Amino acid sequence: MCGIVGYVGHQAALPVVVEALRRMEYRGYDSSGVAVLDGAGATRVEKKEGKLANLEAALDAAGRGSFAGTTGIGHTRWATHGRPSDRNAHPHVSGEVAIVHNGIIENFAPLRHELEAAGVDLVSDTDSEVAAHLLARAMDDGPTAGDFVASCRAVLNRLEGAFTLVFSHADHPDTLVAARRSTPLVLGVGEDEMFLGSDVAAFIDHTRDAVELGQDTVVVMRADGYEITDFAGEPAEGRPFRIDWDLEAAEKGGYDFFMLKEIAEQPDAVADTLLGHFHDGRIVLDEQRISDQELRDVDKVFIVACGSAYHSGLVAKYAIEHWTRLPCEVEIASEFRYRDPVLDRSTLVVAISQSGETADTLEAVRHAKSQKARVLAVCNTNGSQIPRESDAVLYTHAGPEIGVASTKAYLAQITANYLVGLALAQARGTKYPDEVASEFRQLEKMPELIQRVVDSLEPVRAIARELADSKSVLFLGRHVGYPTALEGALKLKELAYMHAEGFPAGELKHGPIALIEDGLPVFVVMPPIEGRGVLHSKLVSNIQEIKARGARTIVIAEEGDDVVRPLSDYFIPIPTSTTLLQPLLATIPYQAFAAEVAAARGYDVDKPRNLAKSVTVE
Ligand code: F6R
Repeated sequence: MCGIVGYVGHQAALPVVVEALRRMEYRGYDSSGVAVLDGAGATRVEKKEGKLANLEAALDAAGRGSFAGTTGIGHTRWATHGRPSDRNAHPHVSGEVAIVHNGIIENFAPLRHELEAAGVDLVSDTDSEVAAHLLARAMDDGPTAGDFVASCRAVLNRLEGAFTLVFSHADHPDTLVAARRSTPLVLGVGEDEMFLGSDVAAFIDHTRDAVELGQDTVVVMRADGYEITDFAGEPAEGRPFRIDWDLEAAEKGGYDFFMLKEIAEQPDAVADTLLGHFHDGRIVLDEQRISDQELRDVDKVFIVACGSAYHSGLVAKYAIEHWTRLPCEVEIASEFRYRDPVLDRSTLVVAISQSGETADTLEAVRHAKSQKARVLAVCNTNGSQIPRESDAVLYTHAGPEIGVASTKAYLAQITANYLVGLALAQARGTKYPDEVASEFRQLEKMPELIQRVVDSLEPVRAIARELADSKSVLFLGRHVGYPTALEGALKLKELAYMHAEGFPAGELKHGPIALIEDGLPVFVVMPPIEGRGVLHSKLVSNIQEIKARGARTIVIAEEGDDVVRPLSDYFIPIPTSTTLLQPLLATIPYQAFAAEVAAARGYDVDKPRNLAKSVTVE
């Protein structure tokens, strides 16, 4: 989830581009960079690892005046392929070409080989750089030689995956060419000037007239106008609109809180986490320094994590044991190393962390490594400490999460954990290749279903407003519904400062049922219809038990679940999925509920009291 900006107009490009990058920094801050075309056949590039402040210092040192020109592009990076570094920062350059990219070019490996075989020297570890070299070559030679726009299209037609790209060429300083497939790009239309941004916050200071670009479109922009086509060059439409947000609202995408924006971004977080991980019928991890043989030799899996990440691990346990037939234990990281767990060379420890900096998880990783276990990190932050100290990494691609309470990173963690489970099953041969492929296809369907849940949260918010004064709320579930209950309770505790507990529904009668009193709200997640049978009927009994004691039941269940509907005081329908994948849907109403209760109580949803986004102390 990088931030992309572009400018063609009559103003000096550098200040416009740098200001736009400041607005885009929430999308990533692993590195940033600019390219300014001087109009006389040269492009001046500066890029730096780390926050924008580092780039600004480099620009000051170089002399900002030396970046003369009225056309420029910029990028702020959330690293995916290649760790954060100056070398991997955008723009990427090849001859007169400079490009910035957001997304993942899934077929970058064969393209890279092709370029290397042709003698091209690639200087970064990114997937993005191939686009710069392909364009430079298309401009030099072949059917589109010398034609900037046609060459850009020729390159775009060779790329697979999800991407927003902006291309510049020093010999065509009055033109920028940009394209989008799946990842966002908006055009800003000014007076004799045009802007590009990953979202409108990039140019809201300059113009309120914007054009949303459709899927698989190319925009050719000059100071005095723009033209939109599809990848084949056929005319295509954009959607013009007027921006009526102020700057703060624009940065939050029009939502009141970043958390709400992040809830809405979950379909993309899951889709992006899956991107590039299934090649030639096989699951592939990002950085695999564990051999296939070592994966085959694994005889036990430990998952270590904290908070929501721990809950994502609890969900994964069901899939990992089911798919790999390996015992899988899930441990709170701060407990793990103090109880002398049994670890050896054939233990795989999966460390899950959004930030990659959580001290408890990091120490658990160090302990596991000291005992010779193999460590695989599932992490959202490229270049952070936990992946650096691990033997293998699978990155979640949720993009920066600003709200302290985890939402999109949590769903991305569940997704990535499933990929780990499938990678293990594949290496160990406990699933046939076609079964692995079929599980992956199921995962690929999830973003669309998640979108349906995200689009239908208004009734959940209404329930939240109604229950905002409750003293206590319980959450129940069975199987993967149990960690989902824990996550629902955690969200409510941390955001609304309300007493909340999650229980396995069957455990209720062993004690917690004493908590049930008249009017107590109790959330229940019902297993999908696929799981109707024992699990479903047991939960129906549990609901009857609590209803008989006066609880108000709020039931999350499949749309067609008519058995449970009559037992629900409030019924929250979700789409049909498999049992294992249901947490990717059922968690979302809990996130929305907690955020709405917090807002109704007047709390800052993005910054709950006493909490920090990254917990770097034990
Ligand atoms: C809850 C939440 C925390 C984190 C936990 C681990 O909404 O965000 O419980 O999940 O502090 O953080 P990471 O994943 O950065 O290790």
